[in-house]
Amino acid sequence: MSDITAQWSDHLEWLLGMINIGVHIVGKDGTTVFYNNKMAEIDGLERESVEGKSVFHLFPSLTDESSTLIRVLHTGEQIIDKMQTYVNLTGKQITSINSTYPLKKNGDIVGAVELAEDITRIVQLNDQVLDLRQQLFRSSRKTKKTNDTQYHFSDLIGESQLFVQALTIAKKASRTSSPVLISGPTGTGKELIAQSIHNAGIRHDKPFIAQNCAAVPRDLMEGLLFGTTKGAFTGAIDRPGIFEQANGGTLFLDEINSLDLQLQAKLLRVLQDGKIRRIGGMAEQNVNVRILAAMNIPAREAIDKGIIRTDLYYRLNVVNIELPPLLKRGEDIPLLVKHFIDKFNQTFGMNVTGVSEPAMRQLLSYSWPGNIRELRHAIESAFNMLDSGEAQIEVHHLPLFPGETSLIHRESAIPVAPVLSAAASRASCTTPINLPAVIDKIERDMIADALKECGGNISRAAEFLNLKRQSLQYKLKKYNL
Ligand SMILES: Nc1ncnc2c1ncn2[C@@H]1O[C@H](COP(=O)(O)OP(=O)(O)OP(=O)(O)O)[C@@H](O)[C@H]1O
Ligand SMILES: [Mg+2]
Repeated sequence: MSDITAQWSDHLEWLLGMINIGVHIVGKDGTTVFYNNKMAEIDGLERESVEGKSVFHLFPSLTDESSTLIRVLHTGEQIIDKMQTYVNLTGKQITSINSTYPLKKNGDIVGAVELAEDITRIVQLNDQVLDLRQQLFRSSRKTKKTNDTQYHFSDLIGESQLFVQALTIAKKASRTSSPVLISGPTGTGKELIAQSIHNAGIRHDKPFIAQNCAAVPRDLMEGLLFGTTKGAFTGAIDRPGIFEQANGGTLFLDEINSLDLQLQAKLLRVLQDGKIRRIGGMAEQNVNVRILAAMNIPAREAIDKGIIRTDLYYRLNVVNIELPPLLKRGEDIPLLVKHFIDKFNQTFGMNVTGVSEPAMRQLLSYSWPGNIRELRHAIESAFNMLDSGEAQIEVHHLPLFPGETSLIHRESAIPVAPVLSAAASRASCTTPINLPAVIDKIERDMIADALKECGGNISRAAEFLNLKRQSLQYKLKKYNL
């Protein structure tokens, strides 16, 4: 041990004692050299009674094969993320995810360490969610309310070309039961689209179950999807999974790219033959479930990184809906702002009439990394900042947008031309520019000026702008002029 390591070893030991991960280190002969408080809590042992004792002394029922620490000492190969459910020495049922690694010096195995993450509480909560869902379906069958979705296509706001394209595909797909893959960055409306597809289709009176694949530990996910049978593993009971619960309806698998690769293979099999088998069960049963899946990273990236199986990708991608980031649909910002103002007026019983022009410029020039969700929060935040009697959202009511070297300076309406030239002369491309929004802004300003110049006469203004009258009328509507 170097001087520095020796100097810090006490602190390291203290730190290992404090962390919420169980740590058990054994020497070459299997006797315990370190055992922390969390591991003592998981195993139901006293920490002091463990050090210096062999694994077999502590857990007499273990064998060379069943003890992961001893196996790793023999093989020198690590065992990663193994889920264990067992009753500990105080009679408490524990579920943990363990990883065991060999400790080597100059190529020789000198010991092994086991790290255990106690997921007992997560398992209990997971089971509760499944049970509650089951109860919900039983009671909803009685009341004929079969799903708790809230969105329909009519709730989706946007007229930009990219968004309308996506919406058109989604509407067509709602007539069938084919799998759909919805992709788009965070906050672009993937969940809204999924609910709308379900609600517009023939399955609308059947269950819609949304499950985020990133939210559940890998080892629990299989039981959650396909169900369990009594005795399949310690503590397992007969319980349907979400495939059974969604039978006849739709299963929305969000963040599908986080699903374990082995489970992706099982999912593919269900998609192909429509049959599932509960964990530990013998019987197969048919399920009729439409799969909608979502990813918040580009499909290409997920395939290249090997986090989504290509065969599953092609099976899911029968219908592909790509939701654009808000940055690419700047012309939808005024519509969305109006939509959220109406919504919050209703929710808060307020009477906000709109946003000032400088505030709209601010909204149009921001890059919206959190997309529509972030815009919604910005408007909600502005509602909270309004003083009583104020009916219009001004720049100072808007939140400070993080990391934005704003094109439009707060509080002041800088004319658009210098803004554009400043943007164009920027050498670095670290700060995104919302070019479509800036162009829209210029167009809107020029049309407003032309109309004023021509005393509100649309035909003359159209002539002045070298536009067809019809085209100007369309733009007047688009810009709410
Ligand atoms: N087209 C739209 N019209 C109106 N509101 C929208 C639209 N798209 C999204 N929203 C709003 O944005 C919020 C976020 O949408 P949603 O939860 O569907 O995003 P998401 O793509 O699933 O994001 P994440 O990847 O973070 O889960 C919604 O609550 C809704 O208020
Ligand atoms: Mg979502």
